[in-house]
Amino acid sequence: MNKKLLFLCLAMMPLASMAQQGLKDAIGKYCLIGAAINQWQSDGQVPEGDAIVDKHFNCAVAENCMKPESLAPAEGIFDFRVADKFVSYCQQHKLKVLGHCLVWHSQAPDWWFTNGYTASPASKEVLRERLIKHIKTVVGHFKGQVHGWDVVNEAIEDDGSFRKSPYFNLLGEEFIELAFRTAHEADPDAELYYNDYSMAGEKKREAVCRLVMNLKAKGLRIDGVGMQSHNGLDYPNLEEYEKSMDAFAACGVKVMITELDLNVLPSPEGFGGADISQNFEMQQKLNPYTAGLPKDKQKEVDARWLQLFNIFYKHRSQISRINLWGVSDGGSWLNGWPVKGRTNYPLLFDRQYKEKPVINEIIKLYQ
Ligand code: XIL
Repeated sequence: MNKKLLFLCLAMMPLASMAQQGLKDAIGKYCLIGAAINQWQSDGQVPEGDAIVDKHFNCAVAENCMKPESLAPAEGIFDFRVADKFVSYCQQHKLKVLGHCLVWHSQAPDWWFTNGYTASPASKEVLRERLIKHIKTVVGHFKGQVHGWDVVNEAIEDDGSFRKSPYFNLLGEEFIELAFRTAHEADPDAELYYNDYSMAGEKKREAVCRLVMNLKAKGLRIDGVGMQSHNGLDYPNLEEYEKSMDAFAACGVKVMITELDLNVLPSPEGFGGADISQNFEMQQKLNPYTAGLPKDKQKEVDARWLQLFNIFYKHRSQISRINLWGVSDGGSWLNGWPVKGRTNYPLLFDRQYKEKPVINEIIKLYQ
């Protein structure tokens, strides 16, 4: 090969490994495809992330800034500054906005479940009023701008019982109804969802179906069920995962993959699910890939991505959205949870914001 030709080939190499199409060009034919966006990005500080969003995504969720802790820092005070910026970011980048989340036991502000600023718990009446006020104010504020809301997040335990959160303990299971009713009144056009992790579990699946059917029987609006999908190389059991998709679709709601990522690191003993309060001590053996993923591991990870997307493709008539939990590996919450300070590789874009080659394969599945 002469020198000129060799130079030309080398110059074209990065182009060849970059997907010509975006994920949204292929997957977007069937459903929405998006990512959770962090505050740095929606504040305009991550241009490399913006390029990814423009090429690949058509919807987005705020990773943190629409949670009660962020929107309601003190009783009677609402702070929409960061969330409003996120919504204009989405408008600027032509992304449908998904709201996450109205009612959740985690990331609620300190004052939320207590009486004033004392340690004594809030009364049933007070919590009920706070819930209604929060949903009315927040959904009302974003009326017409948010396509759909995660109304209730993580209200069911793996054994199918209701989580004993302060909401449940004080208000009983009716808090779920109340939340859906109030959200619908505040924005009748917004879609409303129930969202949870470990959704492949049989008991959880059955409980979520009961919840959906119960809301429907009462004439309440529920459009979809979000399967968070914080997945790993050997979990969830994929047969069970598919069974849940079929079961939710059979309840007459849309299935959404809402927080997709793929943990590639070893799990600490006792780890499971995605409760954000889990926290394990760092040990060297839990953080083996600080210098990059070895080739054979990368192969295993790519194969797992394809297994997952094969399932999503197979269930494309049921799935209305696939949402990754973050944009690039460096920004993923899985570097800090459930063990702080690890180097994880859970997303489709690397630490330099480069597309991973498996993206091309995913796109091919949908062509
Ligand atoms: C996570 C965020 O990614 C982190 O930045 C934050 O510190 C904790 O919450 N399930 C959910 C998401 O519904 O809201 C969580 O997001 C991840 C687990």
